[in-house]
Parts: sequence; C-alpha cells; structure tokens
Amino acid sequence: MLTQAPKGTKDILPSEVYKWQYIEKIIAELCRNYGYKEIRLPVFEHTELFQRGVGDTTDIVQKEMYTFTDKGGRSITLRPEGTAGVVRSYIEHGMASLPQPIKLYYNITAYRYEKMQKGRYREFHQFGVEAFGSEGPGIDIEIISMLIMLFDRLGVKDIALNINSIGCPECRSKYNEALKEYLKDRLENLCETCKTRFERNPLRIIDCKEEKCKTHTVSAPALIEHLCEGCEQHFEGMKAGLDNLGIAYNVDKNIVRGLDYYTKTVFEFVSKNIGSQGTVCGGGRYDGLIEACGGKATSGIGFAIGIERLLLVMEAQGISIPETQGIDIFVATIGDKAEKYAEKLVYQLRGNGINAEKDLMKRSLKAQMKYADKLGAVYSVVLGDDEVDNNKAVLKNMTNREQREVSLDSIIEELKK
Ligand code: HAM
Repeated sequence: MLTQAPKGTKDILPSEVYKWQYIEKIIAELCRNYGYKEIRLPVFEHTELFQRGVGDTTDIVQKEMYTFTDKGGRSITLRPEGTAGVVRSYIEHGMASLPQPIKLYYNITAYRYEKMQKGRYREFHQFGVEAFGSEGPGIDIEIISMLIMLFDRLGVKDIALNINSIGCPECRSKYNEALKEYLKDRLENLCETCKTRFERNPLRIIDCKEEKCKTHTVSAPALIEHLCEGCEQHFEGMKAGLDNLGIAYNVDKNIVRGLDYYTKTVFEFVSKNIGSQGTVCGGGRYDGLIEACGGKATSGIGFAIGIERLLLVMEAQGISIPETQGIDIFVATIGDKAEKYAEKLVYQLRGNGINAEKDLMKRSLKAQMKYADKLGAVYSVVLGDDEVDNNKAVLKNMTNREQREVSLDSIIEELKK
C-alpha cells in the first residue's frame, strides 16, 4: 500500500512529462489564437455545486464522486469535471458584466470513482474550454473548429466528430413523454438506478453504462426527432457553419452525454485506435446551467478533452513528441581546486540561462564523462589544477567530438553563441 499509488491514479514521471508539457504548450498557443484566457480553480468545491450542475440523476453524481465532510462539517467534493467550477466562478466574479462572450480555458485534474480500464482512470487530466454569453451557433462552430485545429497541430488523424442536438427544456418535456411511453413496458428489465430515473429524468436511462439497460434502449425514440423550431434552426445553423469550414461530421442521434446540463448542441470526438474508451473529447451547450447555479440566465458552451486518452491515440498512431533537450554543458573536474572553481562556474553559467551540470557524486573523471553522455550534454569541459591556474580549458562538442581551447573567462560568451 505504502509504496503503491492508489488504484486509478498514475504518476507522470520525468521520463514522460515532456509529452504533457508539449501538449500543454500547443494548447496554450491554440487558446491564444482563439482568444481563450486561462482560468485556474480549486480542486474541490461544495458538493451541492455538482449535484445541481452535473445533475443528481447522473452516474457521476450517483456513483462516482469523491465526497467527504471536512473538519468544519461541510460536504466537499473533488471536482469530477471542470464546467461546474467555471460556471460558479463566472457567477461569483460577476463576469456577466464584462464584454461577452467570456472565453475561458483550463488544464485540470478531475476525479471519478470509476471501474478502471485502459483510458479510464480515477484521477485524470482534462483540457477544457467554456464560452459564456453567446446564443447563436457561431460559438458552437468556433469551439469545434478549435478541436479540429488542435488535432491537426498534434498530427492526430482519423478522429470522428459526432454531433447531435438534445434540444431545450421545451423539446425535452415533449420528448420525455414519448420516451416514457417506450420505456414503460421495459422498466422491469432496467437496472435499479434507471428505475429511479424513469420519473425524474428518463433521458439518463439512454446513457446508462449497464449492458441490460443498453439492450433495452437501442431502439428508443431519439430527441433530435422532437426538436422545437428554434432548436432545429440552431442545429441547422451549426451544420451549415461546419460545412462552411470544411469540417466533416456525422449526426449521431444516440449521443445524449453523461451530464445533465446539456441543451441543444452536443458532440463527441471518437477514435477507433484505443479500444472501448474511444471518446477522446466531449462537449456541448448548456444554456440553463448558469441560471440553475444561481446566476442570471446566460447561455454557455464548452468541451473537455481527456489528455490520457489523447496521448493513447497519439501513441497508437505512432506520433512522436519532441523530447526536451538535454543539458548545454557538463563541467567535469579533477581535484578540489577545480571542484571549487566548477561550483562557481556552473552557478554563473546557469545565471546566464545556460543549462549546466557538474558532478555531485564524487565520480572519477571517466565516470563523469559517461554521466555527461547520459545527461545528453551538448558540450563538456574538463577542469584540473592547470586549467584553473592558466584560465584555459578544452571545450568539447559531445556530438561531433570537436575540441577547441577556450579561456574560462569567455566560456559563457562562447556558449551563448
Ligand atoms: P465528459 O464527457 O465527462 O465531459 O469528459 C470529457 C472527456 O474527459 C472524455 O471524453 C474523456 O476523454 C475524459 N474522461 C472522462 N472521464 C474519464 C476517466 N475516468 N478517465 C480518463 N479520462 C476521462 C465533461 O467532463 C464535460 N465537463 C465537458 C464539457 C465542458 N462540456 C461542456 N463544457
């Protein structure tokens, strides 16, 4: 126990962190290009926010949240996703009074007590965006195009965009009647959780992960066939906008998404490369969420992409990620005098923005040079008493093995070149 990370969590070791840093850099550039500003939020929130936001008939709230009572007696939950927290922050900080739309992005860890499998963890990472205040389909098109561009910049191919509309509360109430009519004779065959969903939120039954519920809902009526005129127009407008940008999509009437806040547009990006957990990204519109959380009625839309799943797709497609460079120079030493000199030299080199290392393990010269190679040093220099006394040393290029004499005073300038 003591020496094993909890089930469903993973360490990101120094040997692989460069992949994460690479993706985060591309995300930051993309968000700058699209005018989305970063927001950083607490890892935990009041439990009620997720009950109200994500929805208390969802799998996430009913089965998967890490909830505890803190020492002050408050019910606290580790965020299972990012949207609810961003909405809370939008309301708390009065962002509605700023010029709209408000466009935000985040890179977060999220927590869900789920059955572990490839691509499904209990702590995972999401890059997400949320945009508030714009009602028309233009913003739907913008955020979907952002994902297309992200995949393009990362070199990810063959990732299908599936879209659907699940309408507004008006379409939903009419649809619920049709769905309940269909489900009522099948109710006995559904799981216990779905039986309780029948009256409160029958749409959730369509999204249940239990096999027996899945089989009994395959031919259930689809929400997209019950859209009101406004929702229909919104959906048509979005499809026309995607066509205009040359973005290919499939309309998948089975997408309902696992969170309650969605209205109108919902979408997912799915890869066939990574097994059953192929949904790399999910998102959609949530025009009623801000009001439900205590703000004034404002529309919203966003998505979140799972970084672990994105990395699995990149790996499956053989996409190589450039590794962070090794160090610029290794300063090897022989003897105490050179050691003292090297301590100061390395300090000065680092102060000048040069990535410098020296031995800290009392290695022999041969072992120091081997270590320099392992660190991927571009240059090395060997200092002994003579070098320090004469203020001269041999600078060696570790890749092409070229050597030249340099004065120790000018080594910083030489390396900066
Ligand atoms: P979600 O579909 O629950 O949506 O999650 C989005 C993505 O997070 C998934 O497509 C998947 O890549 C990743 N993900 C979810 N659960 C896990 C898990 N247990 N292990 C690994 N990866 C996982 C949301 O979270 C919404 N907040 C998205 C959104 C933002 N909608 C509007 N704005």
